[in-house]
Amino acid sequence: MTELVCASIMEPAISITILLLFLPLLFLLTYRRSFKRIPPGSLGIPIIGQSFSILRAMRTNKGEEWFQERVRKYGPISKLNLFGTPTVFLHGPAANKFIYTCSEELLANKQPASVRRIMGERNLLELSGDDHRRVRAALVSFLKPETLKQYVGRMHEEIRLHLHNHWYGNNEIKVMPLMKMLTFDVICSLLFGIERGPKRDTLVKLFEDAIEGMVSLPINLPFTTFNRSLKAREKIKSIIIELIHDKRKKLEKIGICSNEDLIMSLIRMKDQSSDSSVLSDEDIVDNIFLVMLAGYETTSILLTFVIKLLAEDQTVYNHVLKEQEEISKGKALGELLTWDDLAKMKYTWKVATESLRMNPPVFFSFRTVLQDIEYGEYIIPKGWQVIWAPCMTHMDENIYPEPSKFDPLRLESQATKPPPYSFMAFGGGPRMCPGNEFARIETLTMIHNLINAYTWKLSLKDNFFGRNPVPVFIQGLPMQIELKKSSYEM
Ligand code: HEM
Ligand SMILES: *[C@@H]1O[C@H](CO)[C@@H](O)[C@H](O)[C@H]1NC(C)=O
Repeated sequence: MTELVCASIMEPAISITILLLFLPLLFLLTYRRSFKRIPPGSLGIPIIGQSFSILRAMRTNKGEEWFQERVRKYGPISKLNLFGTPTVFLHGPAANKFIYTCSEELLANKQPASVRRIMGERNLLELSGDDHRRVRAALVSFLKPETLKQYVGRMHEEIRLHLHNHWYGNNEIKVMPLMKMLTFDVICSLLFGIERGPKRDTLVKLFEDAIEGMVSLPINLPFTTFNRSLKAREKIKSIIIELIHDKRKKLEKIGICSNEDLIMSLIRMKDQSSDSSVLSDEDIVDNIFLVMLAGYETTSILLTFVIKLLAEDQTVYNHVLKEQEEISKGKALGELLTWDDLAKMKYTWKVATESLRMNPPVFFSFRTVLQDIEYGEYIIPKGWQVIWAPCMTHMDENIYPEPSKFDPLRLESQATKPPPYSFMAFGGGPRMCPGNEFARIETLTMIHNLINAYTWKLSLKDNFFGRNPVPVFIQGLPMQIELKKSSYEM
């Protein structure tokens, strides 16, 4: 009986499998004048493919091994089936270069439809060509070093306030949730110009609801996560629209003022020839969403790993401490950090960079294939997707000898300096993360304040983290902290 039931369930599955197996063959036979092949590998069970397998591996922090196993089995290029779409996995610096320099007519940036519903159609990740260049230029005009230079002091104040409110007076804290709170507050304050208070508190909750829906099943029925997520988007949208109107009024009243925050700078941006706004309100809303999503978890993960590492590696800790004490020595009590101070934190930034190498917050990225692509001896068919994983390049022993060893100085010497497209934590090419400078300022300022004011010790021996899809410490990384007697910060 059970066999019968199984067989009747299996039958359509088998025929789909057979169909899928033959499709590439059919495709090969009809392919014009070319003898190129579809990459090796299996597409797995129809629709499901390897989706559950990779998600399970990531949840138990075996995502790297999962990809390594593929490369061992099939080499640097292979096919699989992820999240309902046939996919080609690419590995290595040459592949990274290909992806990040490939024409947008061949490889497009497209998020899954469910993510797009929540983030909006006008966000930078969805745009291409002139549209992408226009919106990206608008964001970069605020996020570039020359502008951000003026914001180091404000970043410092925001971090001081955070330490005062959440660290001061405590013996034990949980690093990961606190770092999330910090990056959220920093984005609200420096990028959105939203003060502390009820509006910010409402937003945290709403953004969390919105983010949750992106990794849920996209079923829009009452009480589903996806539905809650869409509702959160509506509410966030009306808050941002209101914010835009307030800021516009303020601008009209006091005329031209210095760039107060990202939203203000986007509103003020006018097209020289037509005097109309460069970005519509819709553009601004969708990109504010993106900035929150792209800047919030990534930076908090980097900070969490750096703090963990400093607790575990006494030598690195001492080096960082020395560098930071040197900078404090040259400053008056309570004086804020400046851009020039950050430039002196060379070793600290190497520590952060090495941490990004070993634990890149973005685990993998996708592109959609718009036309058949010839890649080496293979063909990547139109309609498929391409996926790559920075961690695979970062753990390649041909590029980084002893890849599991934490060595902040490996980037220093010419001999061990990695070739282009080997450090992929921020992506590359015209799509490279425009927030990397912002993340650098935030990370350095936080580590400076922390190491001057506190000593810390991990509470647990084992701090397990899984990927969901970003790394999550199950217990939040609890740690014992002690305020330094000599602390000049508080
Ligand atoms: C340690 C922190 C960060 C890491 C590791 C990181 C990583 C990345 C990566 C890997 C990409 C490219 C993804 C791809 O090519 O598919 C990206 C894009 C992006 N990031 Fe970041 N990011 C960080 C912080 C930030 C911050 C703080 C902001 C905003 C202030 C930001 C805004 C963006 C935006 C807008 C894009 C899209 C760029 C485009 O498509 O043109 N990121 N980020
Ligand atoms: C949530 O589900 C309800 C009931 O199906 C629907 O009326 C509503 O439009 C959904 N919300 C959103 C924001 O799509």
